[in-house]
Amino acid sequence: MPERPVLIDSFGRRVSDLRISITDRCNFRCGYCMPAEGMQWLDRSELLSFEEITRVAAICVERLGFEDIRITGGEPTVRAHLPALVAMLSDLRTKAASAFDLSMTTNGASLALLAGELRRAGLDRVNISCDSLHPERFAEVTRRDQLSRVLDGIDAALEAGFSKVKLNVVTMRGFNEDEAVDFARFGRDRGVEPRFIEFMPLDADASWSMEKVVPASETVDAITKVFPAEVVDAGADPARRYRYLDGKGSFGVIPSVTQPFCATCDRMRLSAEGQLRTCLFSTSEHDLRALLRSGGSDAEIEAAIRTAVGQKWAGHRIGKVTFIRPSRSMSQIGG
Ligand code: 5AD
Ligand code: SF4
Repeated sequence: MPERPVLIDSFGRRVSDLRISITDRCNFRCGYCMPAEGMQWLDRSELLSFEEITRVAAICVERLGFEDIRITGGEPTVRAHLPALVAMLSDLRTKAASAFDLSMTTNGASLALLAGELRRAGLDRVNISCDSLHPERFAEVTRRDQLSRVLDGIDAALEAGFSKVKLNVVTMRGFNEDEAVDFARFGRDRGVEPRFIEFMPLDADASWSMEKVVPASETVDAITKVFPAEVVDAGADPARRYRYLDGKGSFGVIPSVTQPFCATCDRMRLSAEGQLRTCLFSTSEHDLRALLRSGGSDAEIEAAIRTAVGQKWAGHRIGKVTFIRPSRSMSQIGG
């Protein structure tokens, strides 16, 4: 078998994880991600088709050795026929004879309906966003009173038999910093792994401030006081993971602000309209859609990806005076 190709950036990091946003739309309006009203949605014709998405993914897997493909949004489950896309991406594994992990980030609200079908189509894992276990707080952050739907979605994901179900919890000072232990208990009881993400300046309302960031170390201290745990070595995974000493699972923290993981970042992002970004905080994009729609060959698309990755910067500068806030919010970039 031929050796697997690898893509290395100019700082010596291997880039092997592609996050594909398939829509900028969402059925929630989380305050840290979207404004309550007035989002300008992309026109359907601007979105990459399933064929275009699969073509880019195939080039990344077959020619560039990518090992992780993640479907994101907006909210990916609001795009029609999602299981068909999952099946198309999953099929690349048999054709390319190269394994990769296929996962999705979702708000979970539609999983009660879709989880089984997505699993059967070949999705390996899901990360479900949930920032509070209190219905009124949940409604406050998402601007939708649907915690129970999300909890049903989590149950459905567990029943569907995904290899792993994780919960993404964005921690925010004055909002949910008192829920770390509750989430840990919830995760231990159900066999899901909560991951606490430090609040980043990607909110459409620009309400972010350093004071609202709950340092990951504080979350770890709160949980390990109640449930003793030891750190697990995780490689390029930005999450620092902890395993409970009593064997009842694990949790993770993502210290994106207080201890950026840029030095081991292996990611690249494709927006719903086909713009490639090499960092969440990139201030420039590379237009793959134009290339796809003007008859670009696989080799040309591969070259464009290599060029973009060659310009991937060392890291973001959140909290420093030189930090430039990206003009897009999280829902438009893809998480
Ligand atoms: N800061 C940190 N995490 C965020 N997410 C969305 N916006 C932000 C932000 N401003 C998270 C969501 C989702 C993942 C894709 O990113 O909770 O789980
Ligand atoms: Fe990589 Fe950018 Fe994330 Fe830093 S912020 S880890 S450079 S994607």
